[in-house]
Amino acid sequence: MKCLVTGGAGFIGSNLVHALVGRGADVVVLDNFSTGVRENLDEVTGRIKLIEGDLRDRSAVTEAVDGVEVVYHLGAMPSVPRSVEQPLTSFEVNAMGTLHVLLAAKEASVRRVVFAASSSAYGDTPTLPKHEGMPQSPLSPYAADKVHGENLCKVFTASMGLECVGLRYFNVFGPRQRPDSAYAAVIPRFMEAVVSGSQPVIYGDGLQSRDFTFVQNVIGANLLAADAPDAPGHIVNIGNGSRTTLIELLSKICEVCGKDTTPIHEAARLGDVRDSQADISLARRVLGFEPTVDLSAGLQLTADWFRTARQAT
Ligand SMILES: NC(=O)c1ccc[n+]([C@@H]2O[C@H](COP(=O)([O-])OP(=O)(O)OC[C@H]3O[C@@H](n4cnc5c(N)ncnc54)[C@H](O)[C@@H]3O)[C@@H](O)[C@H]2O)c1
Repeated sequence: MKCLVTGGAGFIGSNLVHALVGRGADVVVLDNFSTGVRENLDEVTGRIKLIEGDLRDRSAVTEAVDGVEVVYHLGAMPSVPRSVEQPLTSFEVNAMGTLHVLLAAKEASVRRVVFAASSSAYGDTPTLPKHEGMPQSPLSPYAADKVHGENLCKVFTASMGLECVGLRYFNVFGPRQRPDSAYAAVIPRFMEAVVSGSQPVIYGDGLQSRDFTFVQNVIGANLLAADAPDAPGHIVNIGNGSRTTLIELLSKICEVCGKDTTPIHEAARLGDVRDSQADISLARRVLGFEPTVDLSAGLQLTADWFRTARQAT
């Protein structure tokens, strides 16, 4: 099977590329390397087609979908704070870029598009766990643009003859997630601080909670979504179905790293939600999804990778 992974040089995208290559798929990657890195694809060099191009460039997207059966659309400017600083770029990449992908996929008679949506669609609504019947309530340009992408997926399925599935990821973590950007996610930031002996920063009181989801579970969901017969037109939560506060998370990270630390507390960040936890019953029903790696096991696998990656640099 020939498939396209947009954002395939990124954290989740590169894990998906490795899984697809391992299953014998013919993989094309479209990436502009804005946050993705070439080293993420080192192990599959020569076994994939790499197109260095931009989702904002329709001709690059058209070239990338040529002859493809399934598109996994993960390319994005994936940061809440960055979207608050650069709302126009967020719209161009995350919303317009998605429209480019869907239009090109339809024109190329792609069988199915699997879209990386986001739990940020739920905003700060107090109801837990979050289920797909709840209203969309984005709090940041990033969340609004991802919601736009979801709506486009529904429209293309309903009226444009293209099967699309949206997967709302909840706080993904795992190997190849970078700790070294100003917009880095909390697990690699905490892990880097704990391993290097510096103090991790917690924004707010640390009692905010998230449904931390190991990347392998997300890859499994993507593979299921490409084939599940009843999935088209659905927007489906992908998480572990549990939640952990940042304080609890830090203590688990200290445990797997065999070190201790004292965090520094700074002001809560604009646009951040308080609590998040996925109801994964729709994913179970529509995709046959079941998370196979829990938080503790995922943190251990991430810490192992992290140590090796640090030693190599
Ligand atoms: N990491 C999470 O917890 C999480 C949660 C919800 C949703 N998502 C979504 O999952 C997807 C992957 O996220 P990630 O965490 O792997 O982030 P990432 O930054 O590692 O990956 C994004 C990839 O998209 C590429 N990209 C960015 N702008 C592009 C453009 N204009 N043209 C072509 N390529 C471009 C980047 O270079 C990068 O390789 C994103 O769509 C993100 O919104 C991630």
